[in-house]
Formats: sequence, C-alpha cells, structure tokens
Amino acid sequence: MTLVHIWQPDEEPELGTILENVWHLLGVGLRNRKHGFHLPVVATSTPDEGPDVRKVVLRGVDRAHRLLRFHSDARSSKIRQIEQNPRVAFAFYDAAEETQVRIQAQAKVHRSDDAANAAWQGTRLFSRRCYLAEGAPGSPNELPTSGLPNVFSDRNPTEEESRAGRANFAIVLSEIRRLDWLYLCHQGHRSARFTWDEAGKLTSTWVQP
Ligand SMILES: Cc1cc2nc3c(=O)[nH]c(=O)nc-3n(C[C@H](O)[C@H](O)[C@H](O)COP(=O)(O)O)c2cc1C
Repeated sequence: MTLVHIWQPDEEPELGTILENVWHLLGVGLRNRKHGFHLPVVATSTPDEGPDVRKVVLRGVDRAHRLLRFHSDARSSKIRQIEQNPRVAFAFYDAAEETQVRIQAQAKVHRSDDAANAAWQGTRLFSRRCYLAEGAPGSPNELPTSGLPNVFSDRNPTEEESRAGRANFAIVLSEIRRLDWLYLCHQGHRSARFTWDEAGKLTSTWVQP
C-alpha cells in the first residue's frame, strides 16, 4: 500500500514520519513497475563534459545500510564515470504521490564479488540477454543494431548461453548521503532534507520548497 497524500495541512507530520514514508515509497518503487520510483534518473559527472543523466531500474533498497542498487553493462559510460568520480545523484518522482525525492550518494561498482554474483543469480534470462551484446553500449555502428547476436533477436538465451553475459554485468551500490523530499500540495508545497554524516548520524530539517 502506498501512502498517497501524506501531507495534511491540519495534521503536520513529524520529520521522522516523512523519512519513513520515503523508505516506504522506495520499497514500493522497487516492487511495483508502474510506480514512478521504479525508474529513477541517475546523474554522474564526466571529467570534461559536465553532468550525464539516464534512467535506470531500481533493483535494490537496503535501508539498514542506506544503499540503492541498480544494474548496468560493465562497459557502459556510466560505469566508467562512477569509477572516476563516485559521487552520484538520483531523482525519483511519482505523479500519484505528488512526491519527488532527490538523493546524493557515494556509489561503488561491483563486478565480481558476492554482491554482484548474488544480483546476477537473481536476474531473469530476459534481462541477461542485454549483457550478450557484442559491443559496448554507446559504441557507434553503421547500422541501427541492438548489438545482440542474431540468434537472440527473438528469444531469450538459455541459462547456459546467458553465462557469456556475466563478464559484462556490474551492479552499482550507492550509499545515501543526502535526501531531499518534496511534496506538491495545493496549500503550498512542503520539503525536508535528511543528511547523514560519515559516521551515519542523521540530521533532519524542514526546508522551504
Ligand atoms: C526505462 C529505462 C530503464 C533503463 N534501465 C537501465 C538500467 O537499469 N541500467 C542501465 O544501465 N541502463 C538502463 N537504461 C538505459 C540507460 O538509460 C542508458 O541509455 C544506457 O545505460 C547508457 O547509459 P550510459 O551511456 O550513461 O552508461 C534504461 C533506459 C530506460 C529508458
């Protein structure tokens, strides 16, 4: 169940309730493909060309460690950018909830450790197919190609065939450092900021939207 319209003008919630709601929404976004939080935008920095953004699928939320997980082709630009500069930002928005959440985080790429192996084990064959593309994402081609071997143009790989994609699979775990909540409301929008220091100590404040 989602908590639509958490803000009631005559019943002002505590900051702690807002943060609870955000974790709840992230959990809903993780499970529900129709929820806006399922597809955040992730921003990274390039060394010379300013910021870069793209959509990803939210694949994991670990509240205890304040981690968000998404999956990517290990050969992609975003993976290279994160390895150069691990500061990333996420933007989530769900229209029904009228809620935006922006997150600043410290990201880490995992290619072959237990976390990456567990995530690979949890992926479906349909998803693994993407990692069988022959070239790296973003590599130019003379034709409008998917990059997949022809045999996979109309079917998923078998479990055995999918293993060739494992080397191209990476996960990104992002530790949340700052979270900005914005709720759109007829009586005036509301916003709050939650910041965790290096030791994980939380500071919470209302902010003017
Ligand atoms: C709805 C949607 C979901 C996507 N999910 C992912 C994802 O989970 N992981 C990913 O690497 N790319 C995903 N993509 C593709 C990226 O947005 C991007 O085009 C691609 O990864 C190349 O980005 P890069 O060059 O910045 O690495 C998704 C795109 C869309 C439109």
